[in-house]
Amino acid sequence: MIYSERVMEHFANPRNVGEIENADGIGEVGNEKCGDIMKMYLKINNGIIEDVKFKTFGCGAAIATSSIATEMIKGKPIDEALKITNKAVVQALDGLPPAKLHCSVLAEQAVKTAVADFYKRQGVDPTPIVGVIEDRCEDCHGH
Ligand code: FES
Repeated sequence: MIYSERVMEHFANPRNVGEIENADGIGEVGNEKCGDIMKMYLKINNGIIEDVKFKTFGCGAAIATSSIATEMIKGKPIDEALKITNKAVVQALDGLPPAKLHCSVLAEQAVKTAVADFYKRQGVDPTPIVGVIEDRCEDCHGH
């Protein structure tokens, strides 16, 4: 499998790894096929994502996609962050091998799930804003 230099670089040196204490939104998503898990923490102020950190227990591509996704949303307004698709993540990494494209879906879902959590905590229904996020891990929790 051939990875781009950017993927290798983000895998070797991932940005924004860790947790945010008192995060305003937390999103945890998983891929039931491979068992990989991605957790994203957001600090949001006045509609701007001021800080973001992630923890990914998963493959190299999942780590690289979460790393670049955090860079893409940091400092951005929420609505811009929600526009970031897995395709944009893959492009920013100069591509991913086809067998690894699903790993980038996790990154998009993690961002959206964390934003949805932010709205839920304020008693706002996130669905009209964030859309429906497929929970691929529904069946694999507790395994
Ligand atoms: Fe599981 Fe990449 S193989 S997310």
